[in-house]
Amino acid sequence: MSGSTPPATTGRILSGIQPTGNLHLGNYLGAIRNWVALQKDFECLFCIVDLHAITVWQDPADLTRSTREVAAGMIAAGIDPAANALFVQSHVPAHSQLAWVFNCVARLGWLNRMTQFKDKAGKNREAASAGLYVYPNLMAADILVYKATHVPVGEDQKQHLELARDIAQKFNNDYGVELFPLPEPVIRGPGTRVMSLRDGSKKMSKSDPSEFSRLNMTDDADAIAGKVRKATTDPNPLPDSVAGLEGRVEAANLLNIYAALTDQTLEQAVAEQAGQQFSQFKAKLTETAVAVLGPINAEMKRLMGDPAEIDQVLKRGADKANAIARPVLQEVYKTIGFLPSA
Ligand code: AMP
Ligand code: TRP
Repeated sequence: MSGSTPPATTGRILSGIQPTGNLHLGNYLGAIRNWVALQKDFECLFCIVDLHAITVWQDPADLTRSTREVAAGMIAAGIDPAANALFVQSHVPAHSQLAWVFNCVARLGWLNRMTQFKDKAGKNREAASAGLYVYPNLMAADILVYKATHVPVGEDQKQHLELARDIAQKFNNDYGVELFPLPEPVIRGPGTRVMSLRDGSKKMSKSDPSEFSRLNMTDDADAIAGKVRKATTDPNPLPDSVAGLEGRVEAANLLNIYAALTDQTLEQAVAEQAGQQFSQFKAKLTETAVAVLGPINAEMKRLMGDPAEIDQVLKRGADKANAIARPVLQEVYKTIGFLPSA
């Protein structure tokens, strides 16, 4: 399985994002920015996955606020909610209903291989929620309840996509049907894996306790400048070839970010910055990040000033999503042999 671009005439795109904590540069470069590009050519569904969020503890008030904030972030970044379905997972019951079916299709052995569960559960696996364990089955349901064919995600979600394909394939085989397509990941560009600003070997993540590890979409120019200034580096000037980044994870990460923000390949960014000291390069990176994130940040603030409007947008999105998901769930129930409800 490799990342691919969907055929121009067919295909339906679905992707999801968790409403937990702040949206960061990894979410923007690895996910949202690609969604904005894809919406021009495809029918797209964008889901704020609150059911996934509660696989680990969420403070209720924070969850409500984050759900609206993610919606605002997506709209501010350029997602058009009129042309696509932008909605909240818990507003479309068919996700949970299909997830139960998939709990009965997926094998324990498959789930045991999931590296995200191992990472998130940590050492004390006994204390992890059952929801965290079956998280990938719900994700498969998010995708397949729309018969989505392409799923734009960051590199970290590739294994979950493979599981969704295995579930679709097993369901089709078990029941002798061609009900589900095998969804393809769409993984591309230099922003597919943005690393922590403090430690270039760790993914930039909402759950990192250090605020200095990430640039948030809500950060203003001062915050961005401060975080880039503090970003971990090494003592050498920047190399003149990608090969020269070998063993220099922090330099590689900052150049990757710069390449993604300026729409260049890593090779082009390295050539442009060859021989620079980190101090000069960091000033350039700050200027670039502020230019990209500044307008998004301002629009997010404006949208967050009118929560009722955000809720209306999400309701319209859920109406569109429900209209597609309900008949697919009915088709699944019929295939399984459930007695039709009167
Ligand atoms: P999450 O924040 O885990 O809900 O992720 C939402 C989307 O952002 C998914 O498509 C992820 O693959 C993507 N994503 C999250 N963190 C990163 C990162 N550090 N680099 C690139 N993409 C990321
Ligand atoms: N698991 C994804 C993440 O953590 C979020 C997600 C949930 C998702 N459902 C999805 C992504 C469906 C793509 C499609 O990033």
